[in-house]
Amino acid sequence: MTIGIYPGTFDPITRGHADVIARSLHVVQQVVVAVAPNPRKAPLFDLKERVELAKIATRDLPGVVVEPFDGLLVEYVRRRGAQAIIRGLRAVSDFEHEFQMALLNRKLDQTLETMFLMASEEYSYLTSSMVKEVASVGGPLHHFLHPEVAERLKAQIRRTQ
Ligand code: PNS
Repeated sequence: MTIGIYPGTFDPITRGHADVIARSLHVVQQVVVAVAPNPRKAPLFDLKERVELAKIATRDLPGVVVEPFDGLLVEYVRRRGAQAIIRGLRAVSDFEHEFQMALLNRKLDQTLETMFLMASEEYSYLTSSMVKEVASVGGPLHHFLHPEVAERLKAQIRRTQ
């Protein structure tokens, strides 16, 4: 079975992420959505919640597994027996950081490929940070998030404000 690992912070998972996951399933048989703790980014949702939200947003996509991962990505990918790391590219501005990360991961493991998929142009502007900003001022979220994820984000914002 071909397995692709789609790693990220997913704070929270957006429709843009789900779009990349759905596209990946045209190329690999299983996509593992690997949720990183990433305390450096001070996520709004804890790791368990981010995994839960990613499961909600992908539950209609067959061939998707969601799980947390810790430590070095390349080691996790190897452990998981996956063939590739999947990352979404939205705009040129993503490229430099993604390029650095892909080359660093390749340095750490020569056998590993990173596969970039272009998000649909509909979501090419979308980031979790921007969605959180919209939510924090009471803006509509249905364009950006699965309805259940949107409700959870609103509740989380209320708790923290
Ligand atoms: O959604 P993000 O925040 O862009 O995801 C970044 C992520 C989780 C893919 C990256 O920080 C990562 O791979 N972290 C695991 C630690 C690691 O292996 N770092 C080296 C590659 S940058």
